[in-house]
Amino acid sequence: MKGCIVAGLVFAVMQTANSNCSAAPAQTGGASTASAVFVNTLMPEPAHLNAGTGAFAWTGTLTVGIPHFRDQRLDDAVARTLERMERKTGVMRQRVIGTDGSAGLVVDVDGAGDAVQSIDEDETYALTVTTSGVKLHAATVVGAMRGLTTLEQLVQTSGGGFFLPAVEIQDSPRFRWRGLMIDVGRHFEPVDVIKRNLDAMAAVKLNVFHWHLTEDQGFRIESKLYPKLAGEGSDGLYYTQEQAREIVAYARARGIRVVPEFDMPGHTRSWFVGHPELASGPGPYTIRRQFGVDDFAMDPTREETYAFIDAFIGEMAGIFPDAYLHLGGDETPGTQWKGNPRIVAFMREHNMKNTEALQTYFSQRVLELVKKHGKHMVGWDEILNPDLPTDAVIQSWRGAKSLVEAAKRGYQGILSQPYYLDGMRSAEDHYLADPIPAGSDLTDDQKRHVLGGEVCMWGEHLNALSIDSRIWPRTAAVAERFWSPESLRDVDDMYRRLEVESLRIESLGLTHLTHEDAALRELAGTEEIDSLRVFASVLQPVPFGERYRYQHTDQLTPLDNVVDAVRPDPSSRHRMAVLVRELLASPSNHEARVELDRAFKSWAAAAPVVETQMQGSPLLAIARPRVQQMVQFAQVGEEALKYLGGAKAPAGWKKAKLAQIEAARQHQALVRFTVLEPLEQMVKAVRE
Ligand code: ACM
Repeated sequence: MKGCIVAGLVFAVMQTANSNCSAAPAQTGGASTASAVFVNTLMPEPAHLNAGTGAFAWTGTLTVGIPHFRDQRLDDAVARTLERMERKTGVMRQRVIGTDGSAGLVVDVDGAGDAVQSIDEDETYALTVTTSGVKLHAATVVGAMRGLTTLEQLVQTSGGGFFLPAVEIQDSPRFRWRGLMIDVGRHFEPVDVIKRNLDAMAAVKLNVFHWHLTEDQGFRIESKLYPKLAGEGSDGLYYTQEQAREIVAYARARGIRVVPEFDMPGHTRSWFVGHPELASGPGPYTIRRQFGVDDFAMDPTREETYAFIDAFIGEMAGIFPDAYLHLGGDETPGTQWKGNPRIVAFMREHNMKNTEALQTYFSQRVLELVKKHGKHMVGWDEILNPDLPTDAVIQSWRGAKSLVEAAKRGYQGILSQPYYLDGMRSAEDHYLADPIPAGSDLTDDQKRHVLGGEVCMWGEHLNALSIDSRIWPRTAAVAERFWSPESLRDVDDMYRRLEVESLRIESLGLTHLTHEDAALRELAGTEEIDSLRVFASVLQPVPFGERYRYQHTDQLTPLDNVVDAVRPDPSSRHRMAVLVRELLASPSNHEARVELDRAFKSWAAAAPVVETQMQGSPLLAIARPRVQQMVQFAQVGEEALKYLGGAKAPAGWKKAKLAQIEAARQHQALVRFTVLEPLEQMVKAVRE
């Protein structure tokens, strides 16, 4: 499956069938599937797959049989799959749903599964496609949903029509906890944004939506017991309890658990606006606009604090039925504690040597409250402390080391450190990081303590327009890491399938691709953005920390810059790397040479148009230095191609070009080039 790249470098053109990427050719009776060939675009890859021969033609009437267990959730899931397949194929199928075990599509489910989806929900399924039909078997409705998403990914065309290739799939996840965290505290995300992201999660078999609902910058969930929490701590941007229940139901309908997070004792400034009595100093407090770690924290020494948390958790437990509740625990520096003589005296009385000991005391107290309400507590890895009972679940964000340590000490853990999307790292980087840290000396028993992983989408620089482009498609690659066999590490093949999955996710209503075009149109004030698209195709946002440092962002910073338009790890990055790899392996490689030449020429041609558009757009003009560098790189690339073709470069050429590439690595305009490494490789390979 190596080397099956389906997208061009500048303007992607999809090829759905590529002989390099094919499994067994299909023999089939139907004319429309005569050239049917199985092209594996599944993501995540199933645990076991055998490609058969033949295909099931997607034409005419489809009978759907649900011979055993049937409920509304299953019916809805089947209906969603059929609707999406109809939209994709344009084949309006008349569906007849009954109990017939020999129907065209048989969905054979043993039972409903857990009333509240549990961490041990059986997600196993078996899917068999033959020339006469499709059979899906699962123990639970959630397992059936996993199989239905695989079924949707199997739809192919040979040009003449649509078909499902004959396959036999036996599938189950490697990890039980496959999550995506979305921070809605720093920037609120409307209900529709959450719903479409749940749709995308389900498409790649993620099963935990970790909803980071409270932050210094916003308290985003209605409390009827304490209406001042959201009332005064959210700028009016919060979810009503009805909306939260709607999200929980929407997620359940897609086989996704919702784990809410109420971060404490730090990251709580928004709580204090309406309830200053919870804080470790007198206040008054306002919603925090700055990002970073705040000095303020809840007062862990007062019984009233625990009474408040107890009642609040009780109220939230009525909205969020999941067995797990996240109470944060990260980044509490203890500054306000050290500055309060009453708290210092409390620490002395209780023999607490430092503020970490006080935080452990707080964690133990809230863990008891969480248990009292019938839940398990999850916390960030700061809560890991010798005195913490092992029934807390540790989410590792500061390093895989804490996950290993936690597993050794008997805690269950979730790895997030390699899956921080705001680092703007490539899908490849995230994909290759395993939830069982490489080289760890965990025993098999200790490995079982690693429940899985969670992708984290922090909200400092997000709004409802840009959020999808930060999460997708990279998260689909991580979803495969969480679901599929550990041995799957073919990055080229991952990108080949990711390109396809990205379009499938977009068809669910996600905006990760369309956002870029819309933002470029807005920046340029015109529909004529062909040249800008070329420019954007070789750029990506700087990582969170770099933007924060250089732009001094806070919650009120407008997110309307070039950095907000471009997306992390656009397809140009990997495509360029592959082309240059192929060229350097074989300098006479005609196809690579032609495509690279076309890319370099497109950069040179785009630049003057973009520069002209910048004259009418101050926001666009911020990136002018990057256009000038793109022109340089067009020339570097063209010349390198020429020299790699045989001619020697003049003395000093390499040094000068490498200096240009190095200069482009410096911070500029909040965006980085995606193509510097392959360009550098080309220059280094030239002979002077
Ligand atoms: C975190 O990133 N502070 C959990």
